[in-house]
Amino acid sequence: MNTKHDYIAVFDSGVGGLSVLRHLRRVMPGERYLYFGDSANAPYGTKTKEDVKKLTFDAAQRLISRGIKALVVACNTATSAAIHDLRIAYPDLVVIGIEPALKLAAERFPGGKLCVMATPMTLREEKFAALMRRYEEVCHVQKLPAPGLVELVEGGKADSPETDSLLKTLFATLESTPDAVVLGCTHYPFAAKAISRVLGGGVTLLDGGQGTARETRRRLAEA
Ligand code: DGL
Repeated sequence: MNTKHDYIAVFDSGVGGLSVLRHLRRVMPGERYLYFGDSANAPYGTKTKEDVKKLTFDAAQRLISRGIKALVVACNTATSAAIHDLRIAYPDLVVIGIEPALKLAAERFPGGKLCVMATPMTLREEKFAALMRRYEEVCHVQKLPAPGLVELVEGGKADSPETDSLLKTLFATLESTPDAVVLGCTHYPFAAKAISRVLGGGVTLLDGGQGTARETRRRLAEA
């Protein structure tokens, strides 16, 4: 029987977290989910860390008041701004945060050329710098902030000439064509078709959705 406290809450700045929710539902089809996308305040990735932290805590409080057993921060930007403080504030709750799938990319392409696309905030925060330090010795990692892409996805234009044009400008700044692109923002999987079209075939796209879903299952089992 379902109790009042049995939801798995999934949170993002907007629709991006739905790309994680689909993995969660596949990995744990019997669970009940509560999704909150803060589209009214999106994008988060070009805000200050303090603003994102406050918005994330407001969302967490709103979800917790509905009775949840886990909170999945399905937003790389909110994870980098607030995950540490969320865990301190809610020690009895399972709190999971998505992060760019650089580990997965490095395992699949040892010594390869990797590009991490994410919001400006994710890429400038210490959490990503620490991840980067672990993998830049074994791979060539290029960072690619992609301001503007979240707005196109939120606006239903993920697969549009506007998106192609933004992506062309962004990819033109890369030193070389990567072997794989890490989609380090949960909105970007929705633009995967356009990203592959602009990059050309042969570039693998990876995201952290599946890893986050598995980690949530593992942490829930542990709890
Ligand atoms: N979907 C979020 C992420 O994974 C960020 C989108 C935004 O900038 O609001 O980083």
